[in-house]
Amino acid sequence: MQSLSPCESIGELQQELIEFRRDLHAHPELGFQERRTSGLVAGMLEALGITVYRNIGKTGVVGVLRGKRYDSGRMIGLRADMDALPMQETNSFGHASTVPGLMHGCGHDGHTAILMGAAKYLAKTRNFDGTVIFIFQPAEEGLGGAKAMIDDGLFERFDCDAVYALHNWPGLPAGMIGINSGPMMAAADRFEVVIQGRGGHGAHPYQTIDPVLVASHIITALQSVVSRNVSALDAAVVTVASVHAGDPLAMSVIPDQAKLVGTVRTFRHSIQSMVEQRMRGLIEQIALGFGATASLTYQKIYPATINTPKEAMFVADVATELLGADKVVRDLQPSMGAEDFSFMLQHKPGAYFRLGQGGAEGGCYLHNPNYDFNDAVIPTGAGMFAALIEKSMPLSR
Ligand code: NI
Repeated sequence: MQSLSPCESIGELQQELIEFRRDLHAHPELGFQERRTSGLVAGMLEALGITVYRNIGKTGVVGVLRGKRYDSGRMIGLRADMDALPMQETNSFGHASTVPGLMHGCGHDGHTAILMGAAKYLAKTRNFDGTVIFIFQPAEEGLGGAKAMIDDGLFERFDCDAVYALHNWPGLPAGMIGINSGPMMAAADRFEVVIQGRGGHGAHPYQTIDPVLVASHIITALQSVVSRNVSALDAAVVTVASVHAGDPLAMSVIPDQAKLVGTVRTFRHSIQSMVEQRMRGLIEQIALGFGATASLTYQKIYPATINTPKEAMFVADVATELLGADKVVRDLQPSMGAEDFSFMLQHKPGAYFRLGQGGAEGGCYLHNPNYDFNDAVIPTGAGMFAALIEKSMPLSR
């Protein structure tokens, strides 16, 4: 029997992991530019005797570690994201960002430290029968670093039987694990509508085709897609986030064109396709009704993050054993946010779970300029990763 649980053993590494996390926080890097971060990660993995592969998906790093035995042939992937956000930090503590306009506002510094903590523990103990693949991925924030690694042959080279990832979650009590056995995050799509009218004098609108009026009708009509076309038992969001037309200095100039930009969030393919189709119909036909034309450009950015039930329940069971049933939410409500671990879950069974960060009083949710990762939960996150490895590839069966 082990004398210490993975969380307790990793607790002994907490100080060095906090220093590593705070160093990353002070030196944030944007997606696909994580050269310093991935260099540090690769160096630390190598120092642990882990075989390292660099530049998978540009700045991605993969570490490969075999257990005391590996004749099970099993291979499990653990993933952390490494990138920061283009936002200005307003914290003034010692480890605040040293780079103007860049900040670890989503806690990916914490995720990187957590996976490193798991690597340190597993490299020392190797109490498993199989191979761990440590996936340090770049560019989660909108640039699809997970997809870049997959396109670069991640799963051809490291044919994982399952993959796991976590994300810190302010608002969920510190150290709690939240998961469910299906959708965790939504698909995120981007749309752009260009409405072409005919400009002219604001005093003589009858000589024009006013794209501003057309845009207003389209914005209003788009609200009907979720309320009238999506079943009340399904989830979807249509948000018009940007409207651009004309010039605020020109009160009497009706412009030629208006442009709308926004996002659609859904969990199911059928709903996603239906929303796109309904939007296209409304946009084109409303414009036509006013004598204008309108075109919709619809881009699917990230798919929905859908856990496979078996692996999700496995995470919940491991968390229950490690932390106690009172620390595990098994039916966590999904979020309409998005996550590019979804690409990995399109290729492999696996699960994405949340790690509670504690109260988010003071507005310190993710992507807030005052946000900082809660160092106290590093051992819990790293212990969870380590336990997933030990339990899914046990030495003795
Ligand atoms: Ni994030």
